[in-house]
Amino acid sequence: MSGIYIHIPFCKQRCTYCDFHFSTSYEKYYEEMVSAICIEIEQRKQEVVDEVVNTIYFGGGTPSLLKQEDLNLIFDTLRKNYKINPEAEITLEANPDDISIEILKIWEAEGINRLSIGLQSFRPQDLKWMNRAHNATESKRCIEMVKEVGVHSLSVDLIYGLPDLPIKDWDEQIKNVINYGVEHISAYCLTVEEKTALAKQVQEGSIIPSDEDEQSAQYLYLVDKLKSAGYEQYEISNFCLPGKESKHNSSYWKGITYQGFGPSAHSFDGKKRRFNVRNNALYMKNVNSGINYYDDETLTPVNRFNEIILTTLRTKWGVSVRSLISVQTPSTGFYSKVDEFSKKNWLKVENETIFLIGEGWLMADYISAELFAVD
Ligand SMILES: C[S@@+](CC[C@H](N)C(=O)[O-])C[C@H]1O[C@@H](n2cnc3c(N)ncnc32)[C@H](O)[C@@H]1O
Ligand code: SF4
Repeated sequence: MSGIYIHIPFCKQRCTYCDFHFSTSYEKYYEEMVSAICIEIEQRKQEVVDEVVNTIYFGGGTPSLLKQEDLNLIFDTLRKNYKINPEAEITLEANPDDISIEILKIWEAEGINRLSIGLQSFRPQDLKWMNRAHNATESKRCIEMVKEVGVHSLSVDLIYGLPDLPIKDWDEQIKNVINYGVEHISAYCLTVEEKTALAKQVQEGSIIPSDEDEQSAQYLYLVDKLKSAGYEQYEISNFCLPGKESKHNSSYWKGITYQGFGPSAHSFDGKKRRFNVRNNALYMKNVNSGINYYDDETLTPVNRFNEIILTTLRTKWGVSVRSLISVQTPSTGFYSKVDEFSKKNWLKVENETIFLIGEGWLMADYISAELFAVD
């Protein structure tokens, strides 16, 4: 049982807040990149002989920029070289301005059954300072088109913690997704990443993101509103209607193995993490000439212990103390920290499993770091 991630490193334009790996000047080498990704897919088939692929995820960058013939090529290469479960969850990240009824039908014909739309906001002023390629009308229209065609399970990404986001505006954004019956919502707090245009704007004072108290209030408001509307929170930033969890992302949190293809993609085989080079030209050159284009790292028991905490504590499945102990003895302060955080009502322990509760969801990174093992 395994998953496949394919990184499509192109975007039409640079969103001010984003530090993911992508290039906006890709027209000249677009086909060469798709071909290099297909070579990597083919070359690495022996890593998962006899394993069934249950999830495929096209992430980016902007996978909705892929042309039909490129999707065909990638799917042909995948189907020729891997055992794909006929019921596999196949997700494509799509930007609102790329969505049309025609393309939705093409995606359906290719076998894509889930879309993750980078909506970010319904407010025109947000989309403008973010330098998004879509406008507020497209934010709504893309959902309507997906619902009209009616074959894709739909997830949307929203960002909160935005400059000047009063609760009444945040409430309206949340109501929009609920009223459209969107099955899955990923909501991220705006992070000011180093070396982005946003970092510069914040430094100059031309953009002032919400402060920490406002961000926490917006997060708790979101959790409350979505729960009342029947959504389940299954990870810090992820909410879904019953049974609509992302199988692909859940497998990252459950420690299931996956292969990542394309520049900057990561892979995990149960013991080692692999990181493809984050440079389009170098990736293509080295794939084509058979030269190494990745680094890898074998996880020590302490790494693995800490990763289990970091990835599973964030989920509704919690972290099993037995699974931790099976890889590494916890640090001496581990159990007293668990007691301390339970008394603060940040977590609970049931059936030897630790779960975040209440405001603990806001403290996940701090709690995780306090529970880490040390070499
Ligand atoms: C890698 S992006 C790709 C999705 C797609 N290209 C798009 O932008 O619509 C995945 C998601 O991460 C979130 N994201 C990226 N940078 C962020 C930041 N600095 N702060 C908060 N959320 C961010 C956005 O919600 C975005 O949709
Ligand atoms: S947020 Fe999405 S569209 Fe914008 S630059 Fe990042 S990857 Fe590209």
